[in-house]
Amino acid sequence: MNVPEQVEGRLPMLGVLVSGRGSNLEAIFDAIDRGELRARVGVVLSSKADAPALEHATHRGIATVVIAPKQYASRAAEGEAIVEALRAAMVDLVVLAGYARIFDPCVVQAFPLRILNIHPSLLPSFAGGMAPRPQREALEAGVKISGCTVHFVTEDVDAGPIVAQAAVPVLDDDTVATLAERILEAEHQLLPQAIGRVLSGRVRLAGKRASVE
Ligand code: GAR
Repeated sequence: MNVPEQVEGRLPMLGVLVSGRGSNLEAIFDAIDRGELRARVGVVLSSKADAPALEHATHRGIATVVIAPKQYASRAAEGEAIVEALRAAMVDLVVLAGYARIFDPCVVQAFPLRILNIHPSLLPSFAGGMAPRPQREALEAGVKISGCTVHFVTEDVDAGPIVAQAAVPVLDDDTVATLAERILEAEHQLLPQAIGRVLSGRVRLAGKRASVE
């Protein structure tokens, strides 16, 4: 199966979805500024009106939209609003960068193989839940290696084809905070790289296995 080719003749447009701090959003902006990621961020969409990530976007003059669950009668209505906002911004690729909501299927269906998520564990281990839960579960399980995963979003939570992973050691004296910080540094490298890989149009899928041509 081919991952959709990106548009020619203009820089691909990203829509980045956030719910909190926004350090991964900053990493995307930084990679674009350094010329390492050839893309633009068309819109930053937040599920929370007070997410600090929104300030990173407005600071750079990027359009922001808040779509908070309580504004909508159903997850489907929330999903339709998300699709509408992303389409209005002419988004080619959607990136979940610390986004704390599970999509209604209509969102996944509107952007097939065009939504990436970063998760702070080596999937399929410690799937589900928001940071710092996956990091806490890794620590409690006693694993010696953890890390982060960028994967395509499908209707099954944290189970879509894996685009890229990075591993970090779990140290004997780690706390959830120190492990989360070490994983976060890896995330900031991995996410822009994985976005670039998908935008290159060279990612191919065979079942759940994604590879670069
Ligand atoms: C990151 O650690 C990201 O992997 C995680 O939320 C954090 C967001 O940090 N995402 C999940 O847990 C998704 N299930 P940020 O707002 O500073 O980018």
